[in-house]
Amino acid sequence: MTSKITAAITAVGGYVPEDRLTNSDLEKMVDTNDEWIRLRTGIEERRIQKGEGLATSDMIVPAVRQLCEKRGIDPSEIECMIVGTVTGDYPFPATANVVCDKLGAKNAWGFDLSAACSGFLYALTTGAALIESGRYKKVVVVGADKMSSIIDYQDRNTCIIFGDGAGAVLLEPSQSGCGVLDSVLKSDGSGRKYLRTDAGGSLLPTSHETVDAKQHYVHQEGAAVYKYAVKGMAEAVEELMERNHLKAEDIAWLVPHQANIRIIESTAQRAGISMDKVMLNIAKYGNTTAGTLPLCLWDWESKLKKGDHLVLAAFGGGFTWGATLIKWGH
Ligand code: COA
Repeated sequence: MTSKITAAITAVGGYVPEDRLTNSDLEKMVDTNDEWIRLRTGIEERRIQKGEGLATSDMIVPAVRQLCEKRGIDPSEIECMIVGTVTGDYPFPATANVVCDKLGAKNAWGFDLSAACSGFLYALTTGAALIESGRYKKVVVVGADKMSSIIDYQDRNTCIIFGDGAGAVLLEPSQSGCGVLDSVLKSDGSGRKYLRTDAGGSLLPTSHETVDAKQHYVHQEGAAVYKYAVKGMAEAVEELMERNHLKAEDIAWLVPHQANIRIIESTAQRAGISMDKVMLNIAKYGNTTAGTLPLCLWDWESKLKKGDHLVLAAFGGGFTWGATLIKWGH
């Protein structure tokens, strides 16, 4: 009897731009200060992609190239590319297509997936299902955003939070019981009023007026989102742990979306997981939207051991949120 096919993560790649935007840089741009930002969010600096002609795909390409090198495969072996992003290179075509072209992944099909800060979790669950079906053997799942392209650097409510970055994982079939084991994914479109970009879609196409009114930038009602995020992330983690009969001591790492250190602490506390088992890189990258979770895996990969249980959790625009259980496989 053959055992069930699961989607194991067999390589991780990441990329963050070199340019840093520090809290003291922001003090010169808006009415804020380093102490407020650190205490209220946990962020010290973010990476910003600068330079003409550079887009989200230009962060994804080095991340995917790195994971191919680590795994010893050629990009032409990739069968499917799923890119979680809300800052694609173009409204269309999909950034996945651009990435495959730039990489020489000529045998892959792919698509973009829009779920804001939950983009990587949604994409990971989708990619895992393709592997579990038995039809695909190499699926790349990306979370990447160039948030600096949609942030108003005169709005202190948002410009202190976001940064740019890309992370990617390779999924391959495993029959050892390792890989993506379960996901609790949720969405509630009534939350769209709290976190959104108003213009540039079919509801409000781009015009001189929309540009003048700054309607292409991220608008966030921070306090409202905070309230939903604390509840949503904690409940998704609880549901996931309960239905997989896991206690806090069974979890090696909590991998939370890096939006606000206080949201992360509260999620960990509700799950009974101590902060030394929580992956944190918010201080150096800020909130890279779909990029945060794979960038955590990228930063922590060397500390992960085969058999470790990881719980990934995210909350973001949509609203979208959820949690995913992974048993580390390499
Ligand atoms: N610097 C200094 N003061 C600031 C500030 C800044 N950058 N931004 C807001 N303030 C002020 C406000 O004007 C307000 O002043 P007031 O009390 O005099 O009116 C005060 O600080 C508190 O503002 P508030 O918006 O209530 O702060 P907060 O504690 O909620 O923190 C966020 C703001 C955005 C950091 C926080 O709400 C947050 O992280 N929200 C969730 C983000 C998230 O998870 N998003 C989902 C995924 S992207």
